[in-house]
Amino acid sequence: MSASVVEVDAPAKVNLLLRVLARESSGYHSLESLFCAIGLMDRVRIERAAEGVALTVGGGVETGPEHQNLAGRAARWFLRQVGGGGVRIALHKRIPAAAGLGGGSSDAAATLRGMNRLFGDPLSEEALLQGAIEMGSDIPFFLGGSPLALGWSRGERLLALPPLPAVPVLVVHPGEAMPTGLAFERLSAMRGGEYRPRAGRLRLVDLSSWEGVMGVAENDFDPVVRAGVPRAGRAVEALRAGGAWVAMVAGSGASVFGVFPAGDDTGEAEARLGADGFAVWRCRTLEAMPEVRTEG
Ligand code: C5P
Repeated sequence: MSASVVEVDAPAKVNLLLRVLARESSGYHSLESLFCAIGLMDRVRIERAAEGVALTVGGGVETGPEHQNLAGRAARWFLRQVGGGGVRIALHKRIPAAAGLGGGSSDAAATLRGMNRLFGDPLSEEALLQGAIEMGSDIPFFLGGSPLALGWSRGERLLALPPLPAVPVLVVHPGEAMPTGLAFERLSAMRGGEYRPRAGRLRLVDLSSWEGVMGVAENDFDPVVRAGVPRAGRAVEALRAGGAWVAMVAGSGASVFGVFPAGDDTGEAEARLGADGFAVWRCRTLEAMPEVRTEG
């Protein structure tokens, strides 16, 4: 029997590696990325209802117009696939929106996973992934089952990696946004309009340890966002001065994050950032994606 209520935690992600490659004929850029899910999480609670999608958003994070909310769009897509029905969705936001942390995409993936369970698993994993990539680039990663994965193209080509032991992460918001489209435009301008493959980037990498991952950590958006949002750069410097193993811009910004060695105290970095008025979230990298919980 299917459940009548499901609840799913929707984690944020950081890109430990993010390379922006050539612009495709669609206008979108091909990417190469190492995704890592972290324990800064929204929560999605879904109940069956008569018809359509009723979405409420709580938690005090500004998420923009409701009809554009990715959880709502994912739910409407799901209902079209299964030929009707209805749900009430309560979305509790903690992940800052439009900050490069994948919050909206994660909410959408959690909604798809939760609704599939609620309706008795009518859609295959392939069908969910196909719908996901049409709704947003980061959604397939959040559906993929592993908290650590390499992704290519627009994020639909994924290679799940064995998760690494959880380490501390600080996420910092500079108080300003960097719209995704603008970040791509500025990167393109910085490169002189054209992407030219850089020689010397081919190397054997080891992604089976944090030391190996830290050796490749890099984000092409880092200089772009730090130039456009100086406080993002200040936050990166404070994270480094406070002992972060690696600190950089998250996704296309404008939030930033620092990863710390296991067992390290993040207190000094938090104190530096707090004194400078930054919003800071302390969490850990995830060793597994959250399960769908059922009630009733
Ligand atoms: O994914 P989203 O529609 O939010 O992206 C906003 C803009 O960012 C796109 O219209 C496109 O100009 C740019 N973009 C890109 N390559 C990607 C993702 C986004 O050029 N892979």
